[in-house]
Amino acid sequence: MTKSAKQSIRVITIDGPSGSGKSTAARKLAQRLGFAHLDTGAMYRAVTFQALRQGLNLRDSAELINLTKQIDLDLVPTAHGTEVTICGQDVTELIRTVEVTENAHFIASRRGVRDEMVKRQRKLARKLAPLVAEGRDQGTVVFPHAQLKFFLDADPATRARRRYQQLQSSGENVTYEQILSGIQTRDARDSTRSTAPLEVPPGAIIVDTTNMSVEKMVDELARHVQRILSTLEQRQSKQ
Ligand code: DC
Repeated sequence: MTKSAKQSIRVITIDGPSGSGKSTAARKLAQRLGFAHLDTGAMYRAVTFQALRQGLNLRDSAELINLTKQIDLDLVPTAHGTEVTICGQDVTELIRTVEVTENAHFIASRRGVRDEMVKRQRKLARKLAPLVAEGRDQGTVVFPHAQLKFFLDADPATRARRRYQQLQSSGENVTYEQILSGIQTRDARDSTRSTAPLEVPPGAIIVDTTNMSVEKMVDELARHVQRILSTLEQRQSKQ
């Protein structure tokens, strides 16, 4: 390998449903490559959290669009992952509650909110690149020209088990059955909404993570990165 991933690749996208492993994969792949990590779900969560905190009407598009335009939201890379701040306050943990998770669809389904998010995400990418961007629309809408796109998936029971373990360790009082039913509801909402539904981006590599350990999943993605780098190198040497 004569060129590093950092010199050749600007954006890698990872999309997929909740619990598919995409957040862990994005964070670890970014670490391995020395790339930044853009967690776009955290942005939707932060706006949801702020809307709830301000007592906004979650059915009022104008209020939500206005909040998304005004919010002083930042994603700050740190040694132990990305810190999410609103007006300088660390909300990294506060945006992971069941309440925020269950209400995020009010924010994520508004076209005006999404348009604003797309602008913010592209602006962040210009500042942070090279980066691994994860979400539901990264390879389809936000970075359709990314050099490498992944779509991660896993069966719903596995995804529910992973979310359950995460929430247990952060002290949330929920049952596995509640999580599974929440996942099924959100899957249906995410993939049928009219604006930027969750779908496999054209040209994306689909990875089924159902029976994969974290290490195996990251190895698999890194293997594809190496393959793409070799292809890019070959193309460049022919020019
Ligand atoms: O990945 P997550 O669970 O942190 O996402 C939180 C919410 O934001 C979830 O309702 C899906 C939505 N989302 C989205 O619509 N588009 C993205 N690019 C990222 C997340």
